[in-house]
Amino acid sequence: MIKTGIIGAMEEEVNQLKAVMEAVNSKVKAGMEFLEGTLEGRPCVVVRSGIGKVNAAVCTQILIDDYQVDLVINTGVAGSLEAEINIGDMVISKDALQHDVDATGFGYEHGVIPRMETSVFKTEERLTALAVRVCEEVNPDIRVFSGRIVSGDQFISGREKKEWLTEKFHGLCTEMEGGAIAQAAHLNNTPFLIIRAISDKADDSAHMDYGAFEAKAIEHTVKLVRALIQVL
Ligand code: ADE
Repeated sequence: MIKTGIIGAMEEEVNQLKAVMEAVNSKVKAGMEFLEGTLEGRPCVVVRSGIGKVNAAVCTQILIDDYQVDLVINTGVAGSLEAEINIGDMVISKDALQHDVDATGFGYEHGVIPRMETSVFKTEERLTALAVRVCEEVNPDIRVFSGRIVSGDQFISGREKKEWLTEKFHGLCTEMEGGAIAQAAHLNNTPFLIIRAISDKADDSAHMDYGAFEAKAIEHTVKLVRALIQVL
């Protein structure tokens, strides 16, 4: 049976999973509480990384080094970058990148990490397909999309920036951890999957919508993670 590491940036994103875990053993490292045990009978480690790319990357490396996880799942909320993707919809990663990497002054395109063979990190196709199928089963009233997730150490809440991101990177949604988790997993030859529920439209209304829709969005990701872990 594979062991899965599950990362949420915020306590709200992981506390419902933690609450239903069994045989738990807790350890704090780098200020993060790693809760090891079983979820739906499957070995897993659930952890709140904190917000942003550095927290997310450190957390991923600890999951791989200290817990030897076979797969890293990142769950949480995100801002939509596409007009047809609305608050409450879900996005599953096909790949992920970091939109705030800027070595343009050094001759590279935005988002390209100098001297790495790739800056776009891919989720295994079978994982994306499985997550989409399970999501459709357990959240039948929710629309699910799969595609690119773009991450940065920025909360996107303006139309201009949103349009720039969409034109430049063709992402479906934006958040602040997935791309870093993807890179850290890639460096360790470990598969990853990002599951995000849309909490806002990453535009001028993002601040308001985020608070109002966050809880509902998290409900859907929790449902999906609990069902998905049983068929991995
Ligand atoms: N997480 C949820 N909404 C977001 C946004 N608009 N920008 C960055 N991260 C987010």
